[in-house]
Amino acid sequence: MELRVKRAPRIEAEITVPGDKSISHRAAIIAALSNGVCVLRGFLPSDDCMRTVNALRALGIHIEQPEPDMLLVHGKKRVLTPPEQEIDCGGSATTMRLLAGLLSGQTFETRLVGNAALTQRPMARVIEPLRKMGADIVAEGPEQTPPLRIRGGALRGINYRSPIASAQVKSAILLAGLFAKGKTTVDEPFASRNHTELMLNYFLIRTVKGEDDTVSVFGDQVPESRDFMIPGDISSAAFWLVAAAAQPGGHLLVRNIGLNDTRTALLGVLVRMGAQVREAVEDVDQVEPRGVVEVTGGPLKGTVIHGKEIPQLIDELPVLAVAGALASGTTIIRHAQELRVKETDRIAAIAHNLRGMGVQVIELNDGLEIHGPAPLRGAKLACFGDHRIAMAFAVAGLFADGETIIQDAECVRDSYPGFENDLEEFMSPRRVRSSTPVIGTLVPAAPVEE
Ligand code: S3P
Repeated sequence: MELRVKRAPRIEAEITVPGDKSISHRAAIIAALSNGVCVLRGFLPSDDCMRTVNALRALGIHIEQPEPDMLLVHGKKRVLTPPEQEIDCGGSATTMRLLAGLLSGQTFETRLVGNAALTQRPMARVIEPLRKMGADIVAEGPEQTPPLRIRGGALRGINYRSPIASAQVKSAILLAGLFAKGKTTVDEPFASRNHTELMLNYFLIRTVKGEDDTVSVFGDQVPESRDFMIPGDISSAAFWLVAAAAQPGGHLLVRNIGLNDTRTALLGVLVRMGAQVREAVEDVDQVEPRGVVEVTGGPLKGTVIHGKEIPQLIDELPVLAVAGALASGTTIIRHAQELRVKETDRIAAIAHNLRGMGVQVIELNDGLEIHGPAPLRGAKLACFGDHRIAMAFAVAGLFADGETIIQDAECVRDSYPGFENDLEEFMSPRRVRSSTPVIGTLVPAAPVEE
């Protein structure tokens, strides 16, 4: 599939986006461990999340999907059965790393494989702590890359200080901790997204949040089956939020969006860059806050994004880099070396594509320096198999002269099935719906960390 993008008319729109990817993975896994049937609504039926669903099925869990975004997960009280064959995680690192934690608690052996891109991605970050807990894990690829062979067993709780702020690492350890003796604690250099902790609590698993970004779980607990409604994914909404923010006078409402504060750093950065943002939390009944965000675009100015902000907007950096190209002055992104080991090397991919559109950009080891405001030139761009690169540069195309073509963009289905239809709405004045304003709180500009 190709995305053909032309300059957007004035944005005056109201949208919803598909369910949150991170929360969908976790809801399915924890429901599968529970003691009964759980109905999950708002589930993201993306390629990545379906890898997790199919892996759970291969491990003996009955999962019905009466609608694309609805799952009935028949939890089996933590009992999983050996899969008949290896489990294919496709391109989903979340599936592989979270399953590595889960399978570390099982006495049988499982082999986890992935596609060519996933086979390049580092797994030492989960192998090391899971081995410390007692799991037997072999990485068959060079430098601890997939495939993984995992045989779990009697795990012991550990106190692990993670060298990186990664929700996937934290989650793998916490899931293994459910099967370990005693207490398992994870400490991170900066707080990463906290969906696993929240979801465990929602399913009545006791966790403890300590000071300095530590979280602990106690072993030998069975999640209590419950239904759950997954909010829209703020990382998917981010593409449209940036598009509206970068268009002076642009106006966008996103409804039913997840507003977990470990995921909303993007909003404070957009305000810092010159947009006006309001948010209203409408529902916190189910641990994950959801609500509405309203963005009014302004002329944007460059900013510095670094430090503890990075893990809280890691997936939004490609589209924030596009915002940087449209902003006046320089935008600097630092401490984002994790971008080099995502679905592709996102630092290199962003620099390459921004240059392709005529932007002056310097690639740093751990980030980018982007000189705006650039008159973007439409171009034929690759997305390197990376959904967020494809979508970020589709947004760039909405601001470019001439046509932008994103080649081989089917990867958008990894996180945002239907992206191409929403993109059409932003390009077509006829289909953009009018919106009513929200009464919410003005989001303050996030200060740049010293
Ligand atoms: C995710 C965590 C982040 C993020 C990824 C999803 C998760 O990765 O980039 O898209 O669901 O836990 P890291 O944990 O590697 O930072």
